[in-house]
Amino acid sequence: MSTEKWVIGTGFSRGIGFELAKIIKDNNYKIIHLGRGQCGFEDHFIWWDLLNPITDSPILELSKNLYGKQIAGFIYAAGVMPILSVSESNRTEKHLFWQSQAESLRINYLSCAEIIEDILPFIMSKNDTDSQITPFVAHLSSLAAIDPFPGLELYGGSKAACLFYFKWLSKRFAMDELTCLSVHPGTVNTDMVNNILQNSSNDLSIVKLYQKMKQNNEFIEPAKAAEKIYKFLFNDSELRNNSHGKLFLADKGSIFEQK
Ligand SMILES: NC(=O)c1ccc[n+]([C@@H]2O[C@H](COP(=O)([O-])OP(=O)(O)OC[C@H]3O[C@@H](n4cnc5c(N)ncnc54)[C@H](OP(=O)(O)O)[C@@H]3O)[C@@H](O)[C@H]2O)c1
Repeated sequence: MSTEKWVIGTGFSRGIGFELAKIIKDNNYKIIHLGRGQCGFEDHFIWWDLLNPITDSPILELSKNLYGKQIAGFIYAAGVMPILSVSESNRTEKHLFWQSQAESLRINYLSCAEIIEDILPFIMSKNDTDSQITPFVAHLSSLAAIDPFPGLELYGGSKAACLFYFKWLSKRFAMDELTCLSVHPGTVNTDMVNNILQNSSNDLSIVKLYQKMKQNNEFIEPAKAAEKIYKFLFNDSELRNNSHGKLFLADKGSIFEQK
């Protein structure tokens, strides 16, 4: 029986996911990457546009690939930020605005849930019966999922849907059967945040907040964020077990508690 342990992931082409894939590879895991562009750390790449429903995606190729492999975990690190504001009077702009909300719901929530539901049997089947490892499913969530920050409310809604799905998963599976993890990375210096600064109106509170954070060097670098996320997912089993079905704040190193 092979001792190779595999991690399946999305969002590894850029940003936090790219840095996470690098650390996962350095720690001798094998990687199956589903995405639109390779990162260079994958052992197997499957071209996958998360805008498409699973029926239009190469799920059969993925299933064939997973057969007989020991899966350590699945990490959904992909995500998009929709357009943040729209002029009330311009119909074309309005159309694009709502189209981008539908796309963010698809990428930030529906594709994640669809993929997990399809690959659960592979993740759960322990090929190595002596294995003491509990497999995990994880997604990169956001504080916006629980706190509707002005400007991020619709993005937050898509992240909230995924957080809710993970809560439900954590009720279906015991923590030592399948650990279900939602991770807020903090505010990280990636394309997602920089695109908001470049393309959104300066009047938005979120833009003002990010401008201030940037000035004060408060953005977390992606490699630092990935280091914390890796440690949480792969090394800190006690914290990981306690986070089953909850939101883990990687920047603070603690579990989110509702006040
Ligand atoms: N940065 C932050 O401060 C922050 C804060 C809270 C939560 N998050 C969450 O953390 C995750 C990663 O964010 P990031 O900042 O690293 O973002 P990023 O640099 O913009 O990277 C986004 C990743 O998602 C992938 N992706 C987007 N649309 C896709 C599609 N249709 N099909 C396949 N892959 C797609 C991108 O792949 P392509 O290269 O193919 O586009 C890329 O790998 C997201 O879920 C985000 O919501 C980030």
